[in-house]
Amino acid sequence: MAKLAINGAEKTIPAGLHKAWPPINQDDKDAVMRVLDRGILWGPMEKEVLGLQKEFAEYIGAKHALVVNSGTAALHAAVVAAGIGPGDEVITPAYSFWATSQAIMAHNGIPVFVDIDPDSMNMDPSKIEEKITDRTKALLPVHVHGLCADMDPIMKIASKYNLKVIEDAAQAAGAKYKGKNAGVLGDIAGFSLNGSKNLPAGEGGIVTTNDDKLMDRARKMAMFGEKAIPKGHIRLYDAEIMGFNYRNNEMGDALCRSMLKRYDQLQAGRAELCEYLNAELIKIKGVRPPQVPDGYVHAWHLYKLRVYPEQLGITDIHVKRFRWAIHKALQQEGCDLFEWHNMPVPSQKVFLNKDAYGKGCPWECHLADPKWKDYQYDPFNYPACVDMFDRSFCINPIYPPNDLKLMGLYVEAFNKVFDNLDEVIEFSKDIDFPTMPGENREI
Ligand SMILES: Cc1ncc(COP(=O)(O)O)c(C=O)c1O
Repeated sequence: MAKLAINGAEKTIPAGLHKAWPPINQDDKDAVMRVLDRGILWGPMEKEVLGLQKEFAEYIGAKHALVVNSGTAALHAAVVAAGIGPGDEVITPAYSFWATSQAIMAHNGIPVFVDIDPDSMNMDPSKIEEKITDRTKALLPVHVHGLCADMDPIMKIASKYNLKVIEDAAQAAGAKYKGKNAGVLGDIAGFSLNGSKNLPAGEGGIVTTNDDKLMDRARKMAMFGEKAIPKGHIRLYDAEIMGFNYRNNEMGDALCRSMLKRYDQLQAGRAELCEYLNAELIKIKGVRPPQVPDGYVHAWHLYKLRVYPEQLGITDIHVKRFRWAIHKALQQEGCDLFEWHNMPVPSQKVFLNKDAYGKGCPWECHLADPKWKDYQYDPFNYPACVDMFDRSFCINPIYPPNDLKLMGLYVEAFNKVFDNLDEVIEFSKDIDFPTMPGENREI
């Protein structure tokens, strides 16, 4: 008789048990209503934006915080503040959301991709130096999933070659590296406040830095290129650099301030669920949960695990096919899972076709190294990244008010699926799954 839901058996996790993110309470509602009652909905010097900037800067121990309207805007402002421009090269990991590269390319810079460290899934510091050229201006590590990149070697390389370090901390509010918070580990950082993030404002972002000059330039970027004018002073409408309207709105900022008040509690809830999953899933042969190295505090934005059929003696089925069969079998058991990307950033069409904003830019800009004109991106230049994609998927509901009881059902579903691999392997023969561009492997 079938044991697994893929073959008609009862699901492990009944419908209706999952709770959505974010958990909005009465304080959050009151905070947003106070803005609507006040009637001031926007402005770079208004109560909520100034409050959020002060409170977030205090929270992570930064001298400055600038609230903007997305994580992408925060990174773009940070890139420009760091002085990146046409033809400049910025070294960044091949595994991220593509907004990281977008922020570089938006000022006609060129992202130069580095493979990931197979353990942390973050940029591999040992692969950075080989990519440095006389055009390299900055390193842009990503604290992926909420785990800080290994910043000591990254900062050492930056100081050796006189490079700026921009942290993509979009997923990492509350993450720590050797006692210091994400957001103050490099020269400047960008956070995301998108609704999916641990600290949400609906949409939004924050630039943080300890450097007055960098913040001054980031502020101009967020204000059409104009100098920030204190409240009550006359605005000159005199743009000094290319800038944008990257201001956020007061309602989102008020919501975010309200959630920041209980952020430690929300983060503790995530840590409890993820640590429980780690302790239980490690017991299942063939499953590798995410690791937290000593000296790190994980912000647990995403929980990405990997599967190793080789450890189970399964070598006649491609790891990617095996992983998709496991993934789909768990979904049928009622698990809420997702991939968070299917390919390295440089395999996305924008890179393969080298068509960003037309006319060959940034690769054919006259200020770029001529080598970029004929450069061909190839996903298989990043083998650790490809291996990670082959083996991995994310468990979604790792946030409160989901609880240990629900996580217990996830562990039960994993055990059930891994105890009945004969059914999974049969199922795997016939399943569809996405392939990467340029993939001509036998899968
Ligand atoms: C690593 C990373 N960088 C940048 C961003 C961009 O943030 P936003 O969506 O707020 O523009 C995200 C958002 O998902 C992200 O995960």
